[in-house]
Amino acid sequence: MKGPARAKSMVFFYVAQMTAAAAAVMVLVWCINFRGGLAFESTNKSLIFNVHPVLMLIGFIIMGSEAMMCYRVLPWSKKANKLIHLVVHGIALVLGAVGISAAFKFHNESGINNLYSLHSWLGLGTISLFAIQWILGFITFFYPGASMSVRATSLPWHALFGVFVYLLAIATAELGFLEKLTFLEGSGLYRYSPEAFLVNSTALVVILLGASVVLSLIAPHVENTKIYNAE
Ligand code: HEM
Ligand code: HEM
Repeated sequence: MKGPARAKSMVFFYVAQMTAAAAAVMVLVWCINFRGGLAFESTNKSLIFNVHPVLMLIGFIIMGSEAMMCYRVLPWSKKANKLIHLVVHGIALVLGAVGISAAFKFHNESGINNLYSLHSWLGLGTISLFAIQWILGFITFFYPGASMSVRATSLPWHALFGVFVYLLAIATAELGFLEKLTFLEGSGLYRYSPEAFLVNSTALVVILLGASVVLSLIAPHVENTKIYNAE
């Protein structure tokens, strides 16, 4: 990818990097400054819950974003980029699973039921589909690796399904922010408070992140331009 076509699709990549950094800072400020911090073990069970949004956003969604965009932007060989794509998605999967276990731990230690909400159902579905996508990607493109023709046929489906699962993750996080803020407002948080403004703004920035990542992946690039020119 060279010249103006690359410059145009790079705009989405830069927006994705800026929104990822902003979302990461915002969720940390929320959980540490407003909600008292993070802990895996504590008598204050809210601190265990706080691990959940931080890991789901920074560990799962932002890591997943970087892994998906790496083929488009990293200067290294296809082989090196493939390894980075695989490993960073693997890290996202593990951090996502740890983030979900923090939500279960918080519920179990606080005597709250598990899996009662749309957010939790979508969340479990999302992480399961993500794990299936990772395993199928690994078997097809890395080890043992499918035949060239199977790889060629499955690659567009791999990319399509990857973007679909990513959008599901964004939707799940949106429901999570909405649900938590509604709980907090139900227990006395003022609706126009700085904290409520911060949580809503973080959710908005996450939408911008999701949009810019997907746009950076589907933006026209040189290969597409060649096809149009040939017709
Ligand atoms: C893609 C990202 C996310 C996934 C996959 C996810 C997944 C889950 C799952 C599976 C549960 C159920 C735990 C249980 O039943 O014990 C849960 C709970 C919860 N999550 Fe998330 N979550 C994500 C992001 C977020 C974010 C960003 C927030 C924002 C605060 C959030 C807020 C909550 C809340 C309040 C609960 C407890 C209530 C409930 O079970 O619905 N989640 N999450
Ligand atoms: C949940 C995990 C995964 C997701 C969400 C995912 C998603 C994606 C997406 C969206 C693309 C298209 C990228 C682009 O258009 O530039 C892609 C490409 C690709 N992925 Fe994955 N992927 C995952 C795991 C894996 C794994 C484990 C492998 C194993 C090596 C793999 C191998 C590839 C390959 C070879 C490409 C083609 C890159 C190219 O030549 O343009 N993926 N993936």
